[in-house]
Amino acid sequence: MEQLRSTLQENNQEHLLRFYNDLSVEQKEQYLCKLQEIDFHKMGQLFQDAQQSIESEGQLLDTFMEPVSSEQLGSYENCDPTLRESYYNRGLQEISKGTVAVLIMAGGQGTRLGVSYPKGMYSVDLLSNKSLFQLQAERIQKVQQIANEKFNGNGKITWYIMTSVPTYEATQKYLTENNYFNLEKENVVFFKQGLMPCFDFDGKILMDAKDKLAMAPDGNGGIYQALKISGILDDFQTRGIQNIHVHSVDNILTKVADPTFIGYCIEKGSDCAAKVVKKSSPHEAVGVICKVKDKIQVVEYSEISQAQAESTNPDGSLIYNAGNICNHFFTADFLRKVANKDMQVHVAKKKIPYINDQAEIIKPSTPNGIKVEKFVFDVFQFSSHFVVWEVPRDTEFSALKNADSAGKDCPSTARRDLYRLHKKYLEEVKAIVVGDEVEICPLLSYAGEGLEQYSGKQINSPMHLV
Ligand code: UD1
Repeated sequence: MEQLRSTLQENNQEHLLRFYNDLSVEQKEQYLCKLQEIDFHKMGQLFQDAQQSIESEGQLLDTFMEPVSSEQLGSYENCDPTLRESYYNRGLQEISKGTVAVLIMAGGQGTRLGVSYPKGMYSVDLLSNKSLFQLQAERIQKVQQIANEKFNGNGKITWYIMTSVPTYEATQKYLTENNYFNLEKENVVFFKQGLMPCFDFDGKILMDAKDKLAMAPDGNGGIYQALKISGILDDFQTRGIQNIHVHSVDNILTKVADPTFIGYCIEKGSDCAAKVVKKSSPHEAVGVICKVKDKIQVVEYSEISQAQAESTNPDGSLIYNAGNICNHFFTADFLRKVANKDMQVHVAKKKIPYINDQAEIIKPSTPNGIKVEKFVFDVFQFSSHFVVWEVPRDTEFSALKNADSAGKDCPSTARRDLYRLHKKYLEEVKAIVVGDEVEICPLLSYAGEGLEQYSGKQINSPMHLV
């Protein structure tokens, strides 16, 4: 106890013991154990890094930003169709050999969407009423089937689900109760990312109960440490997994385990890659993939200056146009390589509930502290061969971030974009679609293939094709 007290004093955190005498014997014991697990010196360092990051916010980026070079940039639309098909087949072949895994980052808390449960469980009110998790699980099942039929294999795509302390229980319960949407139980693997303490503006760790520190998930960049600590890197080895498709939970159009993207990355010999879309406008809320001081980096929408965001090429196109859609490819070797790297931290000023000196819970109405996060893309700089694959927005990206009141990136736009895409798939095989509400079950078609039976037929909306 004395040692702990002096460590806390040295690190300006002695307030963490101010309610200690009010605790029961059992609570005291548990609380001390928790405190002893924390490296307070490291936390002090973390806060300093966080402060530095606040101070340097946006400052240097403008001077040092450059777009990614054209050799690193591939494009679905500009790619020769035969070559593109060869990428697709290469991806399918790898799936059929069992070297491909999917990792969904589902540790975010969906604050902007305004739900109290994990975003993956959210249904945007499609005709089928399927949740994001269900759509993604069914796409995995279908693409696996396509690959194994084509290459006469028996490969399984393992579905790794990264959760956080706030999302773990509900996610696991939901998927278990729904029988993993018919994926095999042994191929669905849950793991948890870490937590980081929340600080007030003076670097003091906030408490949200007499025996509890205010903690928050460590950002989607917590993935690398979590893969190591949870034994997932070893699991890759055991299962023979070499190629991992990592994506966010909230894009309703995600081509999960996209064979073309995976094949492209493998053929290019890439160890780390990102899918992008052209930005819809200079101030769209997506990060841009670029180089900063010669290192590949994503400059977030909150970090780019207005002038830089709006700068154009002579033909009028945006210079920083590679919109990050949180959809990445990594080799297992690369993930092993970066597991021990120290990662940069990003800081967000937030309203963080805490207890005051009277142990009353305060829910602030203005930001009272900072949350420190790591970002998944901050390892791109360690890649020995980084590539970018640009895809059309209408077939690949519609993010669910906000409630409908925001009017964009919300349930109604996600639903509209999925229906629009499915209508397009049907019209491509010359079906006559009357109305707009058509939904195609992923088990019928992964990405528009296999719909020839509808050629020349009339489909009256609303219609859910299964
Ligand atoms: C993210 C990207 C941004 C991109 C945008 C596209 C990052 C850091 N930023 O921004 O560049 O343009 O998506 O939609 O990737 N998550 C966790 N654990 C966490 C925090 C988040 O697993 O601690 C997951 C979320 O569940 C989600 C994904 O990471 O699946 C993206 O997180 P979110 O906070 O929604 O990122 P954006 O700010 O939208």
